Amino acid sequence: MRAYYEKRAAEYDDWWLGAGRFEERERPGWYEDMSALIDMVLALTPARTLDLACGTGFLTRHLPGEVSGVDQSPSMIEIAAARRKDGAFEVGDALAPRPGFERIFSSHFYGHLDADQREAFLALPRDELVIVDSALRPESVAEDWQERVLDDGSTHSVYKRWFTAAGLLDEIGGGEVLHDGPWFVAVRSSIPRF
Ligand SMILES: C[S@@+](CC[C@H](N)C(=O)[O-])C[C@H]1O[C@@H](n2cnc3c(N)ncnc32)[C@H](O)[C@@H]1O
Repeated sequence: MRAYYEKRAAEYDDWWLGAGRFEERERPGWYEDMSALIDMVLALTPARTLDLACGTGFLTRHLPGEVSGVDQSPSMIEIAAARRKDGAFEVGDALAPRPGFERIFSSHFYGHLDADQREAFLALPRDELVIVDSALRPESVAEDWQERVLDDGSTHSVYKRWFTAAGLLDEIGGGEVLHDGPWFVAVRSSIPRF
């Protein structure tokens, strides 16, 4: 997954924006749901926030407060840092503990983790945790190894899960549903971990 995302960085936002290879995908209601998701992010109370696996910073730029971002891909971090000029960005492992943040925010990362990695993720020190991920759609399975193709024709196997908001909330030990749309779900746990 790591090499795949480093290679994908320059074309990654095509997925969010429905450009390039995603132009012909049927995604009814995608832009409305993306816009509602961004509104949810903008409405969070300002906090000292760490965005884990921030990618290109597509959502990071909308996070209110003092923002740091970490991603294992140098190319992703370069794009994110250019987008959010007041942010502090670092190439590194998102599963390494980084104390001192009021909120951990993570979008479309948790659903790529295996059971051991999920346990490590949920044990990270933080006050508040906000997770954004892909909604389980009627036509989709709950987990899969996907065969993904990049613009250069290379193929990559990627593990991915899809969630109901209630299912994701249950998995993180309870809290609050922040967004429950046709494409995206977001949940918040306010149980601190130190
Ligand atoms: C699906 S992308 C999500 C990017 C961004 N959060 C978003 O929602 O657009 C997954 C990201 O996880 C990063 N990643 C994968 N494993 C990682 C790890 N162990 N530590 C840090 N970043 C990681 C990849 O480089 C990639 O940018």
